[in-house]
Amino acid sequence: MENKKISLLHFNSLDSTNKYALQEDIFNHLTVVVADSQTGGRGRLGRSFYSPKEGLYMSVVLQAEKIKCPLSLCTPAAAVAVRETLEKYCSEEIKIKWVNDLLINEKKVCGILTQAHSEQGKINKIVVGIGINLKEPSESFPADIKEKVGTVGFSGDKLILAEEIALTLDKYVSSEGKTVLREYVDHLAFLGTEREITDYGDGNRKIKGTILGVNEKGYIIIKTDEGEERIISSGEFF
Ligand code: BTN
Repeated sequence: MENKKISLLHFNSLDSTNKYALQEDIFNHLTVVVADSQTGGRGRLGRSFYSPKEGLYMSVVLQAEKIKCPLSLCTPAAAVAVRETLEKYCSEEIKIKWVNDLLINEKKVCGILTQAHSEQGKINKIVVGIGINLKEPSESFPADIKEKVGTVGFSGDKLILAEEIALTLDKYVSSEGKTVLREYVDHLAFLGTEREITDYGDGNRKIKGTILGVNEKGYIIIKTDEGEERIISSGEFF
């Protein structure tokens, strides 16, 4: 892999690596903030992210001017990059669940939270936060997520893994959007299956349909039971 410069900031514990990386003075491209555990890990939609010491919690700073793919594809690029990196260490198939989860045997092993930082109304950096369940936590997962989550089974060096993920992410955000999307759709979970999707852009309306893929912005394309194609920019299904 190309010899790019990473600045790694490693902490025993942080509130949230994303919160830390979003600070004004953390600006260099490929600054990687890693915490062994988080006390206030953040997930999508204001949820919390369980972050015991057996996981990897990292945030990668990307300067907007260094990103070549559309900014809306940073989360898909991260999913593709983490999947590709973990695949080297894991014998199980790793799939991507739209939009930002990685699954092994349909259990979530990784979540991604991308946040933008703006100055004078212009996005100047993107922080890609990645949380991976590397091993089973000693206290086991909390009851409310226990049935839905899994682990990668990684017991190597977390910091080396974090660097590899950051470099692979840089490779994808430095490439054309179509490269990111090809990889993304190639590993998309539930393709061709029927799901009920909650459309957050349409008052949380629930729409049933068959998953056909994603469009050039990374939005999901479904075909409803009435045969109509619908594109959903922000939503979720289980
Ligand atoms: C989700 O599944 O909803 C997204 C979870 C993202 C969690 C990661 S852990 C590292 C980074 N810091 C945070 O507070 N959140 C992200």
